[in-house]
Amino acid sequence: MTRFSFALHATDGAARTGAITTPRGDIRTPAFMPVGTAATVKAMLPESVRATGADILLGNTYHLMLRPGAERVARLGGLHRFMNWERPILTDSGGFQVMSLAELRKLTEKGVTFRSHIDGSKHELTPERSMEIQRLLGSDIVMAFDECPSLPAEDARVAESMRLSMRWAERSREAFGDRPGHALFGIQQGGVTRELREESAEALKAIGFEGYAIGGLAVGEGQEAMFGVLDYAPGMLPVDRPRYLMGVGKPDDIVGAVKRGVDMMDCVLPSRSGRTGQAWTRRGQVNLKNARHADDPRPLDEECGCPACRGYSRAYLHHVFRAGEMISGMLLTWHNLHYYQDLMAGMREAISAGRFAEWEAGFHALRREGDI
Ligand code: GUN
Ligand code: ZN
Repeated sequence: MTRFSFALHATDGAARTGAITTPRGDIRTPAFMPVGTAATVKAMLPESVRATGADILLGNTYHLMLRPGAERVARLGGLHRFMNWERPILTDSGGFQVMSLAELRKLTEKGVTFRSHIDGSKHELTPERSMEIQRLLGSDIVMAFDECPSLPAEDARVAESMRLSMRWAERSREAFGDRPGHALFGIQQGGVTRELREESAEALKAIGFEGYAIGGLAVGEGQEAMFGVLDYAPGMLPVDRPRYLMGVGKPDDIVGAVKRGVDMMDCVLPSRSGRTGQAWTRRGQVNLKNARHADDPRPLDEECGCPACRGYSRAYLHHVFRAGEMISGMLLTWHNLHYYQDLMAGMREAISAGRFAEWEAGFHALRREGDI
């Protein structure tokens, strides 16, 4: 049986390219993971998500435990079968979503109790229950159970939260057990404080994980502060394990993270903004709502190979958005995910060729020109 493993193929400065091997297929890194919160990447068929170039999807413990329920998904053959995506799935562990979405949250050493944002029903999540849910779902990459404060926050509050997450990480490792072919990732916390990031990295390395995530960023600190942390945080983690920056980001955040040694990322941005008329292109952000597109026969991006750019004009994309037609979200989500995957492929190629700096200069130059 194929085991979970990670091989680095090339580095260029701090940037890395390689591949994660799993029984459900390989994940080329740096990897962008589209978000399929409720067992669907909204507005996309799984084969279409694959066609954009995605090797792995992200699912959410929090949403799936509430609806349709982890035990039900397990009875129906697991999340891969349920949503018709046979390739790797990473699931987030739930604590982070409870803190941002649930109501009447109560945090204790044991875990967190909360009321569902959907129907107000009462639930509990602990490291042990989170591991059980992620096992029932059949997740390939399981995330340790953690929590984090939104920033800015007092150092003492960040430290206390990080230390709780490290105790939960140890309980997650214990509860995960021995599951060949599946991986458990620890999550570094510590806000924007270097000493706390160091303490967290040491605690996680002492426990030992198949991969290491950088959590607690993109929670209100801004890009400059986030890059400040990414200047040192990846280097605190084992060089021979994948590093996953959680919940990031905009294209320039992603490029800056890869430059600093991050291997995996996820974000709702390309799919969510596709449903609000926002497109991301090599020239930056384009708002299809804008009246300037109403008579424009050109494609969204002349050089993009996606169905939205091959078959439709800006005028059409503008029209279907304004008319509230479902195809608007479908086409823009497809384009955005395709653009994000093209971006990752470009970076992988540039790192392999030892030309990341030139590639990055080209990336920023085109964005400075803007959408013309
Ligand atoms: N998603 C974005 N940030 C985080 C984090 O710090 N922890 C978890 N579990 N998920 C996240
Ligand atoms: Zn396109």
